Amino acid sequence: MTSRRDFLKKSTLAVSILPFLKPTKVFPKSISKSVKPVVISTWHFGVPANDEAWKVLSTGGRALDAVEAGVQIPEGDPKVNSVGYGGLPDREGRVTLDSCIMDENANCGSVAFLENIMHPVCVARKVMESTKHIMLVGSGAQKFAVENGFKKENLLTPESKKAWLNWLKNSNFTPDPNLLHDTIGMLALDINGNLSGACTTSGLGYKIHGRVGDSPIIGAGLFVDNEVGAATATGTGEEVIRVSGSHTVVEYMRQGYSPMDACKETIKRVKAKMKSKEAETQVAFLALNKEGTFGAYALINGFKYAVYSPEENNTLKKSDYLN
Ligand code: GLY
Repeated sequence: MTSRRDFLKKSTLAVSILPFLKPTKVFPKSISKSVKPVVISTWHFGVPANDEAWKVLSTGGRALDAVEAGVQIPEGDPKVNSVGYGGLPDREGRVTLDSCIMDENANCGSVAFLENIMHPVCVARKVMESTKHIMLVGSGAQKFAVENGFKKENLLTPESKKAWLNWLKNSNFTPDPNLLHDTIGMLALDINGNLSGACTTSGLGYKIHGRVGDSPIIGAGLFVDNEVGAATATGTGEEVIRVSGSHTVVEYMRQGYSPMDACKETIKRVKAKMKSKEAETQVAFLALNKEGTFGAYALINGFKYAVYSPEENNTLKKSDYLN
């Protein structure tokens, strides 16, 4: 039996070490088995993009190669008017592209405000692999691309030109928040358990010439930490940058949040700090952890994402949302 004196001794000891104990937030660890390979990506055009990425992943390829191959599909598709070729131009009628890529070793590359290059993600990878820099922008990025064998091409399709000329008539219509920022963000986990991600867009339709969104910014549009997980963003880039969105999602996962809850907490933070008009704003995050568990969360209804894994046959899923 514990004597009163023993009890007092133990309680005094406990009280004296209490200030040195760090408060810890304990989350139940999900007892999920590991699934790999996995590729997830934003919006309906994530489906054909995942198909391309799956060719790499299902044959034992690297996540980095998978995401680079995958996002080139919407980049080159003239019917996708928010990414690459056929993307809606800025208010001066110029298509300017933002893109980045990140691998399992925290290597990353990025291009922003890049014109006339069909596959900015490949230029971003070239920046990552052949320079000491991370980000090249505008004419410098284009010069680098051309010097490295990329062809200059006109990316303004007749359809996008027509849409822009129509927009010019009043220049101030309220955008549909689910239509004008449809970035492709893609995350993959390969058979060796390594994560990578890529993000690429023509940005906000009819933006001011020179505007750059979240998509080429490591930590905003994309973040990968191979110890924890990866995240990517779509929607109004300004609101994503304000909270370092994708990095925040990964940090929530590091604390033990599931991918979906990590996205949800970050969306709550976006909402709390938001400056855009609610009616014009969609923001959504997509996340994948080391176990191959994925999740998404959006500010408003309408966000969809595609999942390809041994358990998901490239399914298009509806995200949960806050508002
Ligand atoms: N999320 C894409 C952009 O705002 O440019």
